[in-house]
Amino acid sequence: MSQFPSVRPRRLRRTDTIRRMVRETVLRADDFVYPMFVKAGQGLREPIPSMPGQFRLSPDEAVALAREAWALGVPAVLLFGIPEEKDAVGSAAADPDEAVQRTVRALKGALPDLCVMTDVCLCEYTDHGHCGVLGRAPGAAADAPPEVLNDPSLERLAEAALSHARAGADVVAPSDMMDGRVGHIRRALDDEGYDHVAILSYAAKYASAFYGPFREAAGSTPRQGDRRGYQMDPGNAREALREVALDVGEGADMVMVKPALPYLDVLARVRATVDLPVAAYHVSGEYAMLEAAARAGWLDRERAILETLTSIRRAGADLVLTYHALDAARLLATA
Ligand code: PBG
Repeated sequence: MSQFPSVRPRRLRRTDTIRRMVRETVLRADDFVYPMFVKAGQGLREPIPSMPGQFRLSPDEAVALAREAWALGVPAVLLFGIPEEKDAVGSAAADPDEAVQRTVRALKGALPDLCVMTDVCLCEYTDHGHCGVLGRAPGAAADAPPEVLNDPSLERLAEAALSHARAGADVVAPSDMMDGRVGHIRRALDDEGYDHVAILSYAAKYASAFYGPFREAAGSTPRQGDRRGYQMDPGNAREALREVALDVGEGADMVMVKPALPYLDVLARVRATVDLPVAAYHVSGEYAMLEAAARAGWLDRERAILETLTSIRRAGADLVLTYHALDAARLLATA
């Protein structure tokens, strides 16, 4: 006597063993990249108030934390620098004695197999907080506010990327959203013999409210205006595919979508369009949101972390840049 329903998906959900067997997306520590903020000093672990559990680190402490990450199976870190001095053109970004360059050298010395990535941008290094250099476009009114000029910024970004490569970075990750910067950086690296250094391009980076805690951590909030003149409009998805195609054409080795959760649809479309590795950045605001709710007792923190990171992988990310990397790796190790 056959009765409806004959198809019962619940049969494959009955036991943990069967659920494990039919699971489509499995999270691994190998998927994670751990972002770290570095600044000059020694023995420094300054808590970042809006990112509980994250710190501004001196190079030696960055090495100590990276060692922990590596021991947990996390293969890569991404470095952001907080300079002591800022100026109009972000000179410190390319200074071989700045925190990022020092930390890269220290990391490659201490953990030669760790993949060291560096964020390439000017916003942490400019006194105005924009990701490029400011000026007046030809034809602009004399009293118009200055704009971020594209092509003059490219030279500065390439110099920064080169200084990271000289320090030993494995991957440089331009996050400025200037047009043509991937090609420009690629040529600058190749011209000096750094053709082995890979470029992870922040290809589809949106003008997002979710970078707030990062900007507090890095002191990189624009003094005037915002980043909508260079970062993408949240309403656009087709444009993300154009941005990705441009960066692939210019020589990007991997492309990124950022932020992650509010743009999972974009991530899935990018995944379907390119065959390069795709990364997604689970950004500071996404981290803060989850941590705040967990602290208030409104979410089960551990489950929320793993579910969130799984969703980013399921949507198509090969690499997930996340401040939860160490916690997630720990959870996976004990699961
Ligand atoms: C630098 C940069 C930012 C982030 C990564 N690189 C800040 C921004 O664009 O304002 C954000 C990362 C995060 O929020 O975790 N341009």
